[in-house]
Amino acid sequence: MSEIAILEVNGKKYEFPLIKGSENELAIDIKTLRGVTEGVTTIDAGFKNTGSCKSAVTFLDGEKGILRYRGYAIEDLADKADFLETSYLLIFGELPTAEQLEKFHVDIANESLVDEEMKKILNGFPKSSHPMGVISALTSALISFNPESVNVESEEEMYKAIVMIMAKFPVLSAWTLRKKAGLPLDYGDKHLGYVENLYKMMFSKPNEEFKINPIVLDALDKLLILHADHEQNCSTSTVRIVGSSHAGLFASLSAGISALWGPLHGGANQAVIEMLEDIKKDGGDYQKYIAKAKDKSDPFRLMGFGHRVYKNFDPRAKIIQVAAEQVLADLGIEDPVLDIARGLADVALNDEYFKSRNLYPNVDFYSGIIYRALGIPVEMFTVMFAIGRLPGWIAQWKEMRENHEPIGRPRQLYVGEKFREFKAVENR
Ligand code: ACO
Repeated sequence: MSEIAILEVNGKKYEFPLIKGSENELAIDIKTLRGVTEGVTTIDAGFKNTGSCKSAVTFLDGEKGILRYRGYAIEDLADKADFLETSYLLIFGELPTAEQLEKFHVDIANESLVDEEMKKILNGFPKSSHPMGVISALTSALISFNPESVNVESEEEMYKAIVMIMAKFPVLSAWTLRKKAGLPLDYGDKHLGYVENLYKMMFSKPNEEFKINPIVLDALDKLLILHADHEQNCSTSTVRIVGSSHAGLFASLSAGISALWGPLHGGANQAVIEMLEDIKKDGGDYQKYIAKAKDKSDPFRLMGFGHRVYKNFDPRAKIIQVAAEQVLADLGIEDPVLDIARGLADVALNDEYFKSRNLYPNVDFYSGIIYRALGIPVEMFTVMFAIGRLPGWIAQWKEMRENHEPIGRPRQLYVGEKFREFKAVENR
């Protein structure tokens, strides 16, 4: 097979190299396109066909429903690893040895105190604030307390910055939840595991002993692993593009959090539960909502359905669907919203509209159901996603800087007015 792609533009042929990924995917390298064609560019709204980088972090095959972090299957990681181990794998490229994992945990635990001044910023937000806005702002505010920019050439400095954000982000997230719930802030316990500590900081009550429910802990850990990375999605691309201007790690992460907030991305987990609640209030007639989703004159979309990349099934949704059923059974929760979710999924999976467009339930169709069962308020769902995605964002940012990627700056096709003479205001 030839290793080139040929493009014909207005009768003239140009050759471009074909590059191959480690899973044999092919990409046309069009780096020289504008130069050789004297200005021709490509248009690909939403980057549906455009690779923005080479990456060795996550492999995803949307047709076959495969997801791997650094070569390891998501099914194996969800079953056999814990979230901190998975985070180490994503960020540093290899599964940690027992000593490396212990050191990572201890270093994070030792960094888990947040400057007390941060509380003033947290307290400045009204209770009605959306937690995603608060956590994005608090992540940005962390820069003021750690103003030195990370020297990406220094392994030691990179490690320090990574440990710092891995330590402080769960604290700030838990504090955001507690502030909203009117609970006193919890400083965690450095002797607990990473996810155990997060769990404590979120749910402990000042007037009772905190007890860990192993079912809840296991479900939380699994959810965080499933969300930990997903190659060049909207928020990760945001983190990379912001970082490509050499903005710092925390500033890039803060931008990623804002990107994740939207209902077409991480905000879908909140939107799914709100949709299911609306259907319940409306008498539980999910057929009506299937019809609305199919009606092109109605902007309604079935939240938690469809995915930009998975055109077969979302492997994370499969794992999480089983986990959701398990958690509800183990906790003895009967949730009518889950019945509506099951009904909706059954109908949609057998409906020609959804089948022909390869629209399957995605990870967020089920994650909200678990979060709800664990007693996490709906507005915090996307923050939970952000805690899970943090190691992925860090890994991608680190890779982008270490590969010395150029500043991200797309082209456009201008379709506005041609040159016009300026008219003074009295002549318009
Ligand atoms: N409900 C109804 N129809 C849908 C849905 C949906 N959820 N998703 C896509 N479609 C239809 C579109 O109307 C379009 O139909 P057409 O071909 O007749 O015009 C077709 O399916 C293709 O849809 P696109 O919007 O072009 O697909 P795209 O890849 O751009 O969007 C997205 C993917 C944003 C996830 C979309 O499926 C969606 O909005 N889903 C609901 C929101 C959601 O669950 N987001 C979470 C994604 S997962 C995550 O971020 C972790």
